[in-house]
Amino acid sequence: MADSTKSATLSIGDKTVELPIHHPTAGPDVLDIRKLYSQAGVFTYDPGYTSTASCDSTITFIDGDKGELLHRGYPIDQLASKSHYLEVCYLLLYGELPKAGELEEFENTITRHTMIHEQMHNFFRGYRRDAHPMAVMVGTVGAMAAFYHDSTDISDPHQREIASHRLIAKMPTIAAMAYKYSVGQPFVYPRNDLSYAANFLHMCFAVPAEEYVVNPILARAMDRIFTLHADHEQNASTSTVRLASSSGANPFACIAAGIACLWGPAHGGANQACLEMLKEIGDPERIPEFLARAKDKNDPFRLMGFGHRVYKNFDPRAKVMKQSADEVLDLLGVEDNPVLATAKELEKQALADDYFVERKLFPNVDFYSGVILEAMGFPLSMFTPIFAVGRTVGWVSQWKEMLNDPQNKIGRPRQLYLGETARDYVDIENR
Ligand code: ACO
Repeated sequence: MADSTKSATLSIGDKTVELPIHHPTAGPDVLDIRKLYSQAGVFTYDPGYTSTASCDSTITFIDGDKGELLHRGYPIDQLASKSHYLEVCYLLLYGELPKAGELEEFENTITRHTMIHEQMHNFFRGYRRDAHPMAVMVGTVGAMAAFYHDSTDISDPHQREIASHRLIAKMPTIAAMAYKYSVGQPFVYPRNDLSYAANFLHMCFAVPAEEYVVNPILARAMDRIFTLHADHEQNASTSTVRLASSSGANPFACIAAGIACLWGPAHGGANQACLEMLKEIGDPERIPEFLARAKDKNDPFRLMGFGHRVYKNFDPRAKVMKQSADEVLDLLGVEDNPVLATAKELEKQALADDYFVERKLFPNVDFYSGVILEAMGFPLSMFTPIFAVGRTVGWVSQWKEMLNDPQNKIGRPRQLYLGETARDYVDIENR
C-alpha cells in the first residue's frame, strides 16, 4: 500500500472522520475509505466504480487524459514495436523484462504446455457445432479444473505457477479448437517449432490434407494483436477475475468468469459488433445516418469500437492497430478494402462532430482489430476469443498479484437499498 502523508476531513452531522490519502507512483491520489463505515456509519455510492480504486497494483498504468498505457512502466507502443507477446507475458507476470536465458526458459515452458488433455477432446464434441466460440471457451476453460487437479490448490505457489503457465499456453489451443469445431474440421495439434502466434494461426488454418505454411507477416500481426490486448488494469473482465478469485475459487473457474464478462458487447464483444456495424454501414455515404443514430438518445445504437471509460484523449492501442491494419492489408495485397475505408471515414467524421468531441469519444482498440482479423481469414465470431487469448496473461498476472497481497479479502460491495422496509407476510386469500 502506498504512503499516506495527507488526509481529508469528512464531516457528517456531528461526526468528523479523518480519511487517509494515498499517493500512487502515478495517477490521482486515492482517498482511503475502508474505515468510513465503522467510524461514520455511512457507505459510499459508486455504481460502475467510476471513482473507486478496488485494489492496489503494480502491473499496468493508464493515463486516460494523456492516452498513455504502461505495462510495468514500459509504454505500449514501444512494447508493440520492439518486443513480442511472450516477452510481454513474462514482463506482466514477473515485473521485469527477461534476460535472454529467462526468456528462453519461459518460452520453452509455455510451448510445452500447449497440448490439452486428450480427454478434453470428447468434452468439446458435446457442444453443438453452431455454438458461439466464446460459449465454448467459457465452458471449456471452466472445465479445466476437472482435468488439471494438480494445479487448483491456490495456497500452493507451485500449483499457482503451473496453473498460470497452463492457462497462457492452452488458451490458443482451446480457441483454435472452438473454431475448428464450428467449421467441422479436425482439430490440429499444437506445434512446438512455431512461435506462440504462428502456432495459433497453424492450429486455426491448417488441415491434415496438405501442408500449411504460416505467413510470417500474419504471424507478426497476430502477435501484435495479442500484445495490444495483454492487460488493461482493472477493466470489467479483470475485476471479474479478481472478484471471483477473492472467494478462493480455483484459477480455471476464475478465468472462465473473466471470459464470460469479456464476451459482452460493451467490453471485448465490441470487436465483433464493430465489424458487423462497419459492414452494415457498407457505403461511406451512409455514415451520417449512423452518426445521427449514435447521437439520438431515443435510439439504443452506439458507435461500436468508440468510447472508453478511461481514455478521454485517444486509445494508444487503437493508433498501433490502425497502423497494423494498413500494413497487413498492404502486405496481403488487399487494395481498397471497403471496410477499412468505411472505418477511416467514420473515424474522420465522428472526430469532427461536436457530440463525439464534447464527450471525448475516440476509437478504441476494437475499432480496427476486426479489419485485420477478417483480412487474415477469421470469421467474426472468432474476434472476441482472440481477445480472450491475448488477455489471459493479464487476468493471470492480476490474479497472482491479488493472491500474494496480504490485504486480500473477499470482495463484498454494499448497496443503496431502495426497496420495501420490513412488512408482515399477507396470506394469499388476502392479497
Ligand atoms: N456511441 C455514442 N455515444 C456514446 C458512445 C458510443 N460508442 N460511448 C459513449 N457515448 C455517450 C453516452 O451516450 C454518454 O452520453 P451522455 O453524456 O449524453 O449521456 C456519454 O458518451 C458517456 O458515456 P457512458 O456510457 O457514460 O460512458 P462509459 O464510460 O460508461 O462507457 C463504453 C464506456 C461502455 C466503452 C462506451 O463508450 C460504449 O458503449 N462504447 C461502445 C462499445 C465499445 O466499443 N466497447 C469497447 C470498450 S474497449 C474494450 O473493452 C476493449
